[in-house]
Amino acid sequence: MNEEIKNCKRCNLWKTRNNIVIGEGSLNADIMFIGEAPGYYEDKQGRPFVGKAGKILDELLNSVELKREEIYITNILKCRPPGNRDPLPEEIKACTPYLDRQIEIIKPKKICTLGNFATNYIFSSFGLKPESIGKIHGKVFKARNLFVSVDIIPLYHPASAVYNQNMKPTLIEDFKKIGEML
Ligand code: URA
Ligand code: SF4
Repeated sequence: MNEEIKNCKRCNLWKTRNNIVIGEGSLNADIMFIGEAPGYYEDKQGRPFVGKAGKILDELLNSVELKREEIYITNILKCRPPGNRDPLPEEIKACTPYLDRQIEIIKPKKICTLGNFATNYIFSSFGLKPESIGKIHGKVFKARNLFVSVDIIPLYHPASAVYNQNMKPTLIEDFKKIGEML
């Protein structure tokens, strides 16, 4: 899959990307984290969550003694939208077959969705009705498709805590619950 995706031109984002950010971590991971899309630093380095939001994600992972090497981290979109704008519906449609395949290959037991875009996509793809993250964050939703049976845990996007320090305690609480499930 890596060779195919490196040359991907399925949506217009290939024109402005510097690097594709496929994802990173263990292919045997029990937990998969799914964010929105690469930002400035992710696009420069070709790695997920290496900027400000990544720093917060690292703090949250540390708080429950999870190491990046034992989880898998990826995004809904594998290329950066210019200026970090929201993903467009056609971009999500073009790119998510890659994510579906990552889920098929890794077969995670838990999927933590970071923010609304990841939550909406994963809920829909597992036949659940998407709800706003404010209502469902930190809760566990059991779901299955042809390939996997998973616990889906929606979380606020770590970037929400970059400018709003009030979000941090909520994220820490939600991560505590994930820690207890391990
Ligand atoms: N925000 C995301 O959603 N994903 C990244 O990889 C980095 C920031
Ligand atoms: Fe391909 Fe996804 Fe990048 Fe669009 S965002 S060019 S579909 S890898």
